[in-house]
Amino acid sequence: MNAIAVAKARSMSAPLPGDAPRSVTILGATGSIGASTVDLIKRNPTLYRVECVASGRNVTALAQVARDVGARVAVIADPDCYEALKDALAGSGIEAAAGEAALVEAALYPADWVMAAIAGAVGLKPTMAAIGRGATVALANKECLVCAGSLFMAAAARSGATVLPVDSEHNALFQAMGAGRREDVRRVILTASGGPFRTWSLDAIRQATPEQALRHPNWSMGPKVTIDSASLMNKGLELIEAHHLFALPPQEIDVLVHPQSVVHGLVEFRDGSVVAQMGPADMRVPIAHCLAWPARIDGPAPRLDLAALRELTFEEADLVRFPALRLAREAMVKGGAAPTVLNAADEVAVAEFIGGRIPFLAIAALVEKTLAAADARGLLSEPADIDAALAVDHIARGLAGDLLNALKAT
Ligand SMILES: NC(=O)c1ccc[n+]([C@@H]2O[C@H](COP(=O)([O-])OP(=O)(O)OC[C@H]3O[C@@H](n4cnc5c(N)ncnc54)[C@H](OP(=O)(O)O)[C@@H]3O)[C@@H](O)[C@H]2O)c1
Repeated sequence: MNAIAVAKARSMSAPLPGDAPRSVTILGATGSIGASTVDLIKRNPTLYRVECVASGRNVTALAQVARDVGARVAVIADPDCYEALKDALAGSGIEAAAGEAALVEAALYPADWVMAAIAGAVGLKPTMAAIGRGATVALANKECLVCAGSLFMAAAARSGATVLPVDSEHNALFQAMGAGRREDVRRVILTASGGPFRTWSLDAIRQATPEQALRHPNWSMGPKVTIDSASLMNKGLELIEAHHLFALPPQEIDVLVHPQSVVHGLVEFRDGSVVAQMGPADMRVPIAHCLAWPARIDGPAPRLDLAALRELTFEEADLVRFPALRLAREAMVKGGAAPTVLNAADEVAVAEFIGGRIPFLAIAALVEKTLAAADARGLLSEPADIDAALAVDHIARGLAGDLLNALKAT
């Protein structure tokens, strides 16, 4: 297949009316991606049957989702939430489970298709479990590829798992790559909306509050990815994601700021043709593509009206006002565990920013300092396995925490 590693060439029959429903597990069912997935499944009740739904700590939302879709099992990551989940599911016939091991088991249930939409590096282990058993994995959790991209893609190649990109830009590239052969791709371009601070001065960005950073102009997403969109770290993580998903060298992956968020990704072929994928800024579009792949289902998002939009614009990203994008590119080029450290430090920094404890520009500053500290300790070589990658993630969080304390003490 042209497009990818991504989709390893194991063919999967499309769900058509009259077929047995495709069985589905949703990891991160209570989040933004989870809700969009559930919405599509509820609109297509004959095509999908939900095996398992899983989340972190939100018992009420998880029990509600489990009942809504008639899941067989509901799994909550926090073991202390088990009794509450059991109570919330009483009388439904839905099995309850809790804890990290149960989360991994959830990914091992024999569902045909797994949505990997847990936020953060914590999603790595369960997603790897689904990969290891050769499932079709719709990958929203970009952290899997940022923290352990080489290991992740190698495991997918070994097991025959199919990896379908949910991130709108990578889903766009996946679709656009279908226009040619992989070896004829010259470069790819990921678009970025530019976030809420696209036109702000550096001084204004310095004063930005969490409320302002959480107000994304085009997309409705969970809090971590929304803050990352404001700093352009999200685009940086996506560079690394594309590097692994499509086995592209760093110099063949570019970013363009495109404030309208209509063109999500472009593939340039060697003959000069540039194939772009367009669509409304609604995550149900790429999720529907992954849910039905290789077929298509009806999408509920409002249809694109290009005439009403009138213009599509593109500009270079400003690496001075948005240093996180530069840091991510440097980490991608460095390789090894540099992206693992970048991601861990960013998760720590974003939580601190959302909590109002550090200013916006300290996010990138903390990531840069943590990378330097990890490098000085010789931590940036390629992790040998997933446990080693998670160990680096853990150490990097500790380093970021220490640097943060020093930063606050000054
Ligand atoms: N939202 C988007 O439009 C978008 C677009 C592209 C990619 N992504 C990626 O998709 C992933 C999910 O993003 P999101 O925006 O949907 O995030 P979100 O709204 O914050 O939802 C996060 C989900 O992860 C669950 N979770 C958190 N900690 C967990 C743990 N320790 N164990 C198990 N589950 C846990 C949450 O459960 P609780 O509710 O119980 O805490 C929730 O279901 C991220 O990797 C993000 O980068 C998102």
